[in-house]
Amino acid sequence: MATNANSAMRGYAAHSPTLIADIGDIPRQAGERDAAFWDRLRPQFTIGGGTAYLDNASYSPPPGLVLETQERWQHQLSANPANPMRLGELEPVRGDVAQVIGASENEITLTRSATDGFSLLLYGFDWHRGDEILYDRGDHPSIVGIIETLSARYGVRAVDAGMGGEVLADAEIVSRYSASLTTSTRLMILSHINAWTGRRLPIRALAELAHANGTLVALDASQSFGALQFSVRDLGVDFAAAPGHKWAAAGHGGGFAYYRRDIQRLIWPTVGGGYDPKSTSIFDQSARRLDRNAGQKNIPFLLGFAAAVGWQNAVGRGSIETRLLELSAYLREAFAGLPAVRLLNGADDAAASPLTVFTVDGHGARDVQEQLLRRDNVRIGLVGEGANARLRASPHIHNSLNDIDRAVAALARLSAA
Ligand SMILES: Cc1ncc(COP(=O)(O)O)c(C=O)c1O
Repeated sequence: MATNANSAMRGYAAHSPTLIADIGDIPRQAGERDAAFWDRLRPQFTIGGGTAYLDNASYSPPPGLVLETQERWQHQLSANPANPMRLGELEPVRGDVAQVIGASENEITLTRSATDGFSLLLYGFDWHRGDEILYDRGDHPSIVGIIETLSARYGVRAVDAGMGGEVLADAEIVSRYSASLTTSTRLMILSHINAWTGRRLPIRALAELAHANGTLVALDASQSFGALQFSVRDLGVDFAAAPGHKWAAAGHGGGFAYYRRDIQRLIWPTVGGGYDPKSTSIFDQSARRLDRNAGQKNIPFLLGFAAAVGWQNAVGRGSIETRLLELSAYLREAFAGLPAVRLLNGADDAAASPLTVFTVDGHGARDVQEQLLRRDNVRIGLVGEGANARLRASPHIHNSLNDIDRAVAALARLSAA
């Protein structure tokens, strides 16, 4: 096992030798895991009722190691109640997350969710009437909601980049954001994966554009963290947030936010206080100050999150990304053979992600979702609501090709009826 996988597994291997041995026994080279490897991993997931679960972009079930770690900590906190904050155990979680996204542990805030991370960022700024936030209407509703609140409260102008859920070439995306930048744009908000098309945005080019304008960049990494490899430094973003319950497969209850060192001084704590801007302590002069005094944390979740990070490191982040893109390519090729299915992802591989967005001619998206689950025990996700809703299929490493074949057969039956 590689050194960083070893260090990230500290403490967990002793507890769960079999779960780790299943991974560690097999020589690992990024992208070279074979079908037998993924078959051996599958029993670590316990998806009930034989469902072909293809909605991992909404929620990815955690492997046994994570569930075990969380359960163990629930008991441990009761058995040994003398130290309820557990700061000694929680502190290293920052470093585990930081390593995955190419940041420093001093740049990580532990949060309850992606929305929590964006709230800390957006409500923590000193806003002035007339300041502008550049975003896209297709960004996640919980983030759009924060922007709308800032508009109502401080007179901040929300400017829509206007991608409108269309499949756009990278140059066109950059051009739309560019056309919407002004001298008042203080922040550009970017979804790493566009929810309406399942395509990766050209984050680095957009961040360069923003910085040339003196604008900071906030990345919603909810749909990339745990699925695709990236470094916040390479992408050039100033802030990023993601939850644990999606591709990281860490269960509900928490997440993280990254604050680039140089922007931390711009953000006031908005949950809890006790922050002394003049103090030179690492707690005041790091991203810790946004969570240190924020009350009790979900300790079992956060330690389970660290276990999930270590587990994915041991599986291999390159292997996970390759597998997800292969499963999604297989899925898209099969869906493309169904005459009633309209794929919305576009064709170029550079923008590929594990999210496949589609519609079915003659059927509303929610209706398709319900029928597939009821008749075929296949779970597909939804983006949006009502007439505009789209379907979203998102396989993770616990899925087999057979799960995808079941989705294809179910869609073929539905459109033939
Ligand atoms: C792209 C994106 N951003 C943000 C969120 C919100 O995540 P959380 O529930 O952790 O706040 C989601 C969850 O659906 C999402 O898909």
